[in-house]
Amino acid sequence: MAVALVGLPGAGKSAVGRRLGQRLQLPFIDTDHVVEQRVGCSIRDFFEREGETRFRDVEQQVITDLAANPSGVVATGGGSVLRECNRAQLRDRFHVIYLRSTPEDLFRRLRHDVKRPLLQVADPLGRLRELHGARDPLYRETAHDVVETGRPSVAMLVNIIVMQL
Ligand code: S3P
Repeated sequence: MAVALVGLPGAGKSAVGRRLGQRLQLPFIDTDHVVEQRVGCSIRDFFEREGETRFRDVEQQVITDLAANPSGVVATGGGSVLRECNRAQLRDRFHVIYLRSTPEDLFRRLRHDVKRPLLQVADPLGRLRELHGARDPLYRETAHDVVETGRPSVAMLVNIIVMQL
């Protein structure tokens, strides 16, 4: 079985993905982590040095490689759905779950985060609202199921997902 989680930064893709992998006894893969291994530095440093387009190119290559041999539980980077080819490969090769959150919930979870380059702006909540507006349709287009992450704990989210698989 191959499951991919999509959603905005802070939606819980890594936390839920890791726990879901344990539950299903499948390996857990975080595309951000694979990108960091390939480029040899943090995403934040890579963004700064090479820019977003170069980052998206590496991310696309990682998704193409994973889609060639889909297995495990994959947490994708929040912007992976921006490219049509990523959306198509994820949808065709994985059971895709959209972990959906409100910008306000995401802001609460991320307000002390310094790792995510897209949120290092004067108005991160405004930025999250913009990202949500632009990407919500793309996550919906990519996903087979939508799971609202508002109240439930990670363990409850895993239970909800397992019932949908
Ligand atoms: C990004 C989300 C990040 C990471 C990069 C860009 C985005 O992943 O891929 O900083 O464009 O939303 P997470 O969703 O795991 O934070």
